[in-house]
Amino acid sequence: MTSYKLVMLGDLNHYGFLFGGKMLMWVDEIAWMAVSGDYPGCHFVTVGMSEVTFHKSVHPQSVLRFETAKARVGRTSVTYHVEVFRRHIESSEETGVFTTDITFVRIGADGAKMPIGEGRS
Ligand SMILES: CC(C)(COP(=O)(O)OP(=O)(O)OC[C@H]1O[C@@H](n2cnc3c(N)ncnc32)[C@H](O)[C@@H]1OP(=O)(O)O)[C@@H](O)C(=O)NCCC(=O)NCCS
Repeated sequence: MTSYKLVMLGDLNHYGFLFGGKMLMWVDEIAWMAVSGDYPGCHFVTVGMSEVTFHKSVHPQSVLRFETAKARVGRTSVTYHVEVFRRHIESSEETGVFTTDITFVRIGADGAKMPIGEGRS
């Protein structure tokens, strides 16, 4: 799944670069949309992210491209690999800025984990 975000002034830290927490929020949100689309009717919560390293800073007027791909399906969890690339809005040159693996766990109405395959046709 490919998604895009435009980096706005309100997304920046006090040095003028993208605030890292915003990146984590967008990765969480975009990957959650991917898992929810792949498993309609199921409810998921984020349980963890693998490595969190910000390889390059991101400046305003950047467009971020998020590439999200399912990487592993477990008993109750599903992991997605996410890669993020930046480019200036007036340029076509892209640079990788962030990668992680993010894992979601399927939960039931009581908030407890449940098997991915249960109750699905
Ligand atoms: C997600 C939650 C229901 C899991 O319940 P649990 O009983 O602790 O589950 P387990 O430790 O047995 O792990 C469940 C699955 O997650 C996987 N998992 C657990 N921690 C993980 C981590 N840090 N990274 C990747 N996978 C992880 C386990 O391997 C297991 O996978 P599998 O069943 O596919 O083999 C529970 O931890 C929870 O409610 N966490 C809070 C979720 C939340 O609020 N997220 C929003 C963040 S603010």
